[in-house]
Order: sequence, then C-alpha cells, then structure tokens
Amino acid sequence: MSQSRRIRMLLDELSWAEKLGQLQIVFRPDLHDAEQLVRDGIGSVFWPRSAAATNALQRVAVEETRLGIPVLVGLDVIHGHRTIAPVPLAQAASFDPSVVRDLARLAAAEARSAGVTWTFSPMVDVSRDPRWGRVVEGYGEDVHLTAEMGRAMVRGYQGETLAASDAIAATAKHFVAYGQPEGGRDYNTVDASEHRLRNVHLEPFRAVVDEGAASVMAAFNTVGGRPMHANRRLLTDVLKSEWGFGGVIVGDADGVRNLIPHGVAGDLAEAVRVACVAGLDVEMGGAPSDAQAAELGPDRLDPARVDDAVARVLALKEALGLFDDPFVPEGDERTEPTEDARRLVRTAAARSSVLLTNDGTLPLSNPPRVLVTGPYAESTDHLGAWTQSFAAGARSIADELRSRMPRTDLRVIPAVGFLDGHDGIPDAVAAARDRDVVLVFAGEPSTLSGEAASRSDLRLPGRQEELIRQVAATGVPVVVVLENGRPLVVADWIDDAAAVVEAWHGGTEAAAAIVDVLLGDAEPAGRLPMSFPRSVGQVPIHYAHESTGRPATTGGMLTEASVDIGLHGPDNVHEQYTSKYLDLELGPQFAFGHGSGYAAFTHGTPRVSHGEIPLEALERGETVGIDVVVTNTSDRSGDEVVQAYLEDVVSSVAPPVRRLVAFERRTIEPEAP
Ligand code: BGC
Repeated sequence: MSQSRRIRMLLDELSWAEKLGQLQIVFRPDLHDAEQLVRDGIGSVFWPRSAAATNALQRVAVEETRLGIPVLVGLDVIHGHRTIAPVPLAQAASFDPSVVRDLARLAAAEARSAGVTWTFSPMVDVSRDPRWGRVVEGYGEDVHLTAEMGRAMVRGYQGETLAASDAIAATAKHFVAYGQPEGGRDYNTVDASEHRLRNVHLEPFRAVVDEGAASVMAAFNTVGGRPMHANRRLLTDVLKSEWGFGGVIVGDADGVRNLIPHGVAGDLAEAVRVACVAGLDVEMGGAPSDAQAAELGPDRLDPARVDDAVARVLALKEALGLFDDPFVPEGDERTEPTEDARRLVRTAAARSSVLLTNDGTLPLSNPPRVLVTGPYAESTDHLGAWTQSFAAGARSIADELRSRMPRTDLRVIPAVGFLDGHDGIPDAVAAARDRDVVLVFAGEPSTLSGEAASRSDLRLPGRQEELIRQVAATGVPVVVVLENGRPLVVADWIDDAAAVVEAWHGGTEAAAAIVDVLLGDAEPAGRLPMSFPRSVGQVPIHYAHESTGRPATTGGMLTEASVDIGLHGPDNVHEQYTSKYLDLELGPQFAFGHGSGYAAFTHGTPRVSHGEIPLEALERGETVGIDVVVTNTSDRSGDEVVQAYLEDVVSSVAPPVRRLVAFERRTIEPEAP
C-alpha cells in the first residue's frame, strides 16, 4: 500500500505505546473518562453524544497529545442517526437500491454534522435463518440482493469523498458467515465449507470492498473452529491479500477478549497477539491495563504488522480530512429531522411494505366504521432494533388514522399486549361485529429482533394470533398489518385475513407510511427479501437451495391412511424417497421475492441478447441482456419488481436451483384503454 508523506513521518515519530493507542477504540465510553483516554493516546472513541462534546475530544487530541493526531469517532448508525429509516431488512424489501443509498446519505449527513466519522454499517451477512434476531440488520437471504444493497449503502455513506461534510466511513460487517449460526442462536458456532463461503457469505463482502468500503468488522463466530478475530486465512489471506483490501479491519465489541472463552487464548495479552497476527487492525474493547500493555511489547507483537495496522488507521483519518480540520461547526448539528428527511423515510417505509395477500379489501375505500386493534394500534414502538436513545420518535397508528380519516367512526381497542395476556379479546370481538372492516396491527416489539434476540418460535408472540382468528370469525373483513424484524410463521391465521401487509419496523414515519399504504396513497409493492417458513421446523429455508439428488415434487401428506399403508402406497415408491418433510407441504409459506401491489402486470416473453456466450467473453466483462415488456393491466399506476433468475443446468458443483442475478423496480402507468 502506498503511504502519504504524512503517514510515513508519523510512523517514524510515534512511540510503541502511541502506536498501540491508535489501534484501539474504547467500546464502553461511559466506563471511562473519554478526554483522559484521548489525552493518553487512544486513536478512536465512540461518539460522545453531541457536536460540542466531539469537538472537545478532538481539541484534546490535537492540542494535548504529542503528535496531535485527531481521533476517529465511531457509532452504530444503522438505519438512521436522528431520522430513523425502516430497518435494513425492510429496506431490502424495497428492491430499490437508489432509496437505500439516499437513506444512507441522509444518515451520514446527520451523523457527520454531529462529529461522527465512522459507522459500523452496513451488515451484509446473508442469512437464511429467521430465528437469528440479527436478520433485521441485514438484507435477507439472497447473495445478489445483499451485495447490491450493501453497495448502495457504501455509496450513500461515503459519497464521492470521505472528506465531505456529509460523508462517513462505512464498515461492512460481520466478516464472515455470522449469518449462519447453528440453531439460529446469536454468537453461535459456524461451520461453513469453502463452497458455502465463496458462493454465499464472502460474496457480498467482496462487492462492498469493491465499492470502496473503508473498513470491515470481524465477526464474533468461529468458522471451521477458528474464531474470526483469530482467523488469519480469512482476514489476511482472503480479505487483505486476495482482494487487496487496504482499509481497516476492526474487531467487534470485546471480540478480542472473547477469544479467551472461545478457548484459543489464555489471557487478554495473548488474545491481542493472536488477533494482530491474524490481521485485525483495531481492537474494540476496554483500555488495557498497564500489566497487559507490558505483555504487548515489540518483542511480542510483530512491529511490521503493527505499523501496517497503524498506517491503515492514519490513512482513514487522512481520507476523512481530519488532519486538515477535525472540528464540526456546532451550530450546524442536525438534531431534528427536516421535512425532507421525514418525507424520505416515509416514502422508504411505504416502498418497503410487502402485500402478502389481498382479496381486494385493500386499499380501503372509505369504510364508515372501522375497528382498530392489536398491540401496535397505540404503540409508538416503530423504530426497530438498533436505534439510539436520541433518535426521533414515531407517532402511533391510531393517532395517524384519527387525523387522516376524520369522517370515519374509528374504535380503537388494542385488546392484547405483545407478550402479556391482558384479555381485551372479547371486547374487540364484540366491537368488530358492527364494523365494515377490522384493522389488526400486530407484530413483534423492536426488542425481539436485533443482537442477542434469537427466537425458537416464529409465530406472533402472546395472544395476537388468537385475536386475529377471533375477530375474523365474526365474518367482518380483517386486514392485518405486521410490524416485525424477521420472517414470521403465519400459517395458523393467514387464511383468515382478507389482506396482510408486511410493514416491518418502519422508523420515524412508520405510522404515516402505513396509513398511506392502507388508503392507497402509496403502494405496498415491496418484495420479500427472506422466505417466510410454514413452520419453524423448515428453517433454514431459502429459495436458492441445491436441488439434492432426490428432489421432491409433492410435500408429505401425513394421514391416518398413509401411516397404515406406507406413506405413498405401492404406486408411488419413487416419491417416497425424496427430500421433504412428511408433515409439511413443500416450500415456504411465502418465498423470497414474493409480493404484489395494488396494480396488476403482465410480462411478455423475455428476449435474451445472446443465445450462447462463451465463458471467455463473460470473463472479459461482456454481459447478457434481457428485455422484457411489462404492461400495467390495471387502472392505476403501480410498481413492478422484475426479477431475473439464473439456472445453471449442468455444473461441476451442485448449483442452486436458481439464483437472482438482476432486478429492477419501476413505476409503470396503466396502459391506455
Ligand atoms: C455488534 C456490532 C456493533 C458493535 C458496536 C456489537 O455487539 O455485534 O454489530 O457494531 O457491538 O456497538
């Protein structure tokens, strides 16, 4: 890597202790006196909660340390800083990378105005297991969609130049295969073959590194028995050497310390040494004690490796323009959402909504009497996992409905909580009887997804399913709006509902966006970024699975008779020995890519530019084009998401049955009559 003159000079001048200081970000600022840490030479800090406080820390760094090196200021800006956008999984459902880029741009502008320079986002962990709560932070089960959304995030955060006043450094996380923990339990073991790593988990990281992501975060998990913070083959051989990644590899919170319970280091000093050798550049943890520091002398850590890590950190500071001006104008800190910001996150939330089913009840056509029920009716918990305490809050859907439907007789009876059993169901059922439509706002509270929030049961928690079934039994059409951070199992009630919208956790303007969708002012034309299983027993389930040598064509139908005569009887012995569950229909409830909208479309026969294309031509960068004429056959404007899948019919390794290679979302006007 070429180094600037400034960096070469600093490397010459920095003492060993000062170098080690550059290689740390203190993760629990509340436990430390941040100013003292900076005075002592720490290289990076978590954001101290205001532009003024950040400037104060930069002043200490510049004026009170020997070489005056400014600090990197890190923060988990995940789906917004002050103005909160839909959760990343929802953003993926928009199938609209330009909206995703704009959301990252907004988050970057708000964060940088406050002095933040480094975010720990995007998360590009492909995940096919909705038990894992962190699916909410990523872009779902598909490699291509994850890669495209990750790229869009990097473009949005980093802009044209990191030195701009509205740009922050992006971190692709968690490297790698964190999305495949055994049993869907967070932090759990991962064992992934080279085939799986190369074809699934590594690919989105390669894409965002190619897009210029400034840093990459190591994952908490092991891969093949080697914890990622100590995994030289993947951190150094693949990421740095093979891909030429010149940025910073940062550890996850206490990830280096966690090498001790992982069982690959005896104490913290050994853990640091192992991580450094593996290629980790910055440790995210607590400040080391003097005794630990004494164990980390130049005789114990490779000085060339340390210099390489320090150079990477200094290069990031330089790219951010911090050596020229580490301060931000305090008067310009963006502490409240602007009208434009609100409009953007509202549009994004509506575009992220997925219409799972609809018998025509949606959009609502001015029903005179409506029952509003479910735990989300009056809740303001719309921000989703990974927001900070200072984020701009949301209003309730009931309040939004009251102001948008002033002439409607609205009765609001939440009836049940998310988890507890408080039983308003009989009241809700009684109230439903004279209504034209019942709107049930159901889902998971934000705290049930995100880090350390795995679930073994994917049904709506508490008594929500009972509420849906009982109000539906009145015969009044029931519309269910779901807000959650993962795919759910909806099998026990979905057929009772007239329409179901998956709205996810939509952020600061979620309530307005949901009402836009219900009234038809916006279209729920997103598509699922992750399959919804029929049962938790199917998990992990995803569309791009291998075919197996014995693919099934029908699901198992376990009946009394089939148990007596053998499952399929003598006539169907071939179907008996196929890959399926005896007690489930084949496939998920809703597959990846599922969704519709209020308009209707037909697709013409696709025209492919090449009947054949030699491999060498593809390797030279030639592409195959596909044209398809899409017609809006409805009487309203609407969005269609065209998805192109590739099937590799005969390959040297078992290929996935199909995989997404391109997609485009477009608004199409109805065809003139
Ligand atoms: C999470 C990371 C996050 C870090 C810093 C960790 O527990 O795994 O995704 O960036 O904390 O807050």
